[in-house]
Amino acid sequence: MSQTRICCLGAGYVGGPTMAMIAAKCPDIQVTVTDMSEPRIRAWNEGPLPVYEPGLEDVVKKARGKNLHFTTDVKGALKAADIIFVCVGTPTKTHGVGAGRAADLTYVESAARMIAEVAEGAKIIVEKSTIPVRTASAILTILRSNSKNGTFQVLSNPEFLAEGTAVADLENPDRVLIGGEQTPEGLAAVEKVASIYARWVPRPKILTTNLWSSELSKLVANAFLAQRISSINSISALCEATEADIDEVARAIGCDSRIGPKFLKASVGFGGSCFQKDILNLVYLCEHFGLPEVAAYWESVVKMNDWQKHRFSARIVSDLFSTVTGKHIAILGFAFKKDTNDTRETAAIAVCRDLLKEGAKVVVYDPRVPETQIRSEVLGSEKNPNLVVLKNALEACQGAHGVAILTEWDEFKTLDFKKIHDGMNKPAFVFDGRNILPHAKLRELGFKVFAIGKAV
Ligand SMILES: NC(=O)c1ccc[n+]([C@@H]2O[C@H](COP(=O)([O-])OP(=O)(O)OC[C@H]3O[C@@H](n4cnc5c(N)ncnc54)[C@H](O)[C@@H]3O)[C@@H](O)[C@H]2O)c1
Repeated sequence: MSQTRICCLGAGYVGGPTMAMIAAKCPDIQVTVTDMSEPRIRAWNEGPLPVYEPGLEDVVKKARGKNLHFTTDVKGALKAADIIFVCVGTPTKTHGVGAGRAADLTYVESAARMIAEVAEGAKIIVEKSTIPVRTASAILTILRSNSKNGTFQVLSNPEFLAEGTAVADLENPDRVLIGGEQTPEGLAAVEKVASIYARWVPRPKILTTNLWSSELSKLVANAFLAQRISSINSISALCEATEADIDEVARAIGCDSRIGPKFLKASVGFGGSCFQKDILNLVYLCEHFGLPEVAAYWESVVKMNDWQKHRFSARIVSDLFSTVTGKHIAILGFAFKKDTNDTRETAAIAVCRDLLKEGAKVVVYDPRVPETQIRSEVLGSEKNPNLVVLKNALEACQGAHGVAILTEWDEFKTLDFKKIHDGMNKPAFVFDGRNILPHAKLRELGFKVFAIGKAV
């Protein structure tokens, strides 16, 4: 039997780590990851890797140059492959029909057209990007009506990794989901891809379904996860008003095995490239299929999240005697969660913008996110001298009126808060948007503390 050859389109947060794991686990399979972005491919080949994930470097080093390759020669890799993973971006549409909600499938469609143009022989196309339910049918139509010499099976194999724990999630996934056409050819293609994962994932964790269930399950999984965060965040506001404590409530309800303890941490709001985009996509689909009540139900998850972010910045302003004009607010953490350099849709964007609008001087520190990225997320192409980015947490807090914790980076738990307090304007405020600090101790040091879901 000839050697299996995989080509991946898209060397981003999903394509890079997933393909590195497949290559590391299957030394006999040749895996080529492609991207049109030359700097991205160079970074995968030469480092530092474009994606920060604990443990990823070791996985990449194990296989790179042997059976794992990164290249901008997209067409060459496509031609040689028998399995093609599509891991391109599917952002929210910014214009046209469905703007602000529907998924922008431009990259997926152009990937399909490129595959149709160069493919010869039998190819399995695996959708790993998150896409609206029934996209496979559009991809198949494009492939089958544009290709001269190719025959295709399209599978859905959504990725469930979480940024920050991508390597552990890929190594030991809760499940791998593979959907395909319920025909002999479709089922054979599903089995071919399932057998790759089965090299390291126990068979009972590999779920196979029809195409549409698989496509829809990814959107629904993210909607349920985000809904839990919005649910607990909504209760955090009630806790602040009633002297209940959100962590105690979360622990009490999480002990119920029907609810479970995970994903019940109240915070300044969820971020990341997926939750909001995938829920909005679900909302759009519901509207498209004539289900406005279902659409409204899920849209409220995003509305609650927006409210939580703005509620947090409003609280900073009101605690600082209702004005932050000319005041220095230190922002510790900009990434949307710890252990990632990803800042897409991070709650920090909304908080920084709100504070800048109020006239504050906003001084940001994040251990993994470069200044240029923070500036472009908050300001776009505009300039604003009131946004300052520093490379050290203590320096960022020097002279501040308030310190806001927006990412739960471990290093913030061990900061020298006595020193920070000494260097701040008094009264010195801490706004813990992640509930990771020892609040009683901070109060003993003289801080005024606001923490999500805790009455003062
Ligand atoms: N980031 C996550 O945690 C995560 C988790 C699960 C699923 N997803 C989904 O996976 C998909 C990819 O997400 P991401 O975070 O990796 O995006 P990303 O933006 O980091 O990477 C996408 C890459 O695809 C490249 N690309 C676009 N068109 C291409 C083409 N025709 N050929 C080759 N390369 C091409 C882009 O240059 C970019 O580098 C999205 O649909 C997303 O919703 C993301």
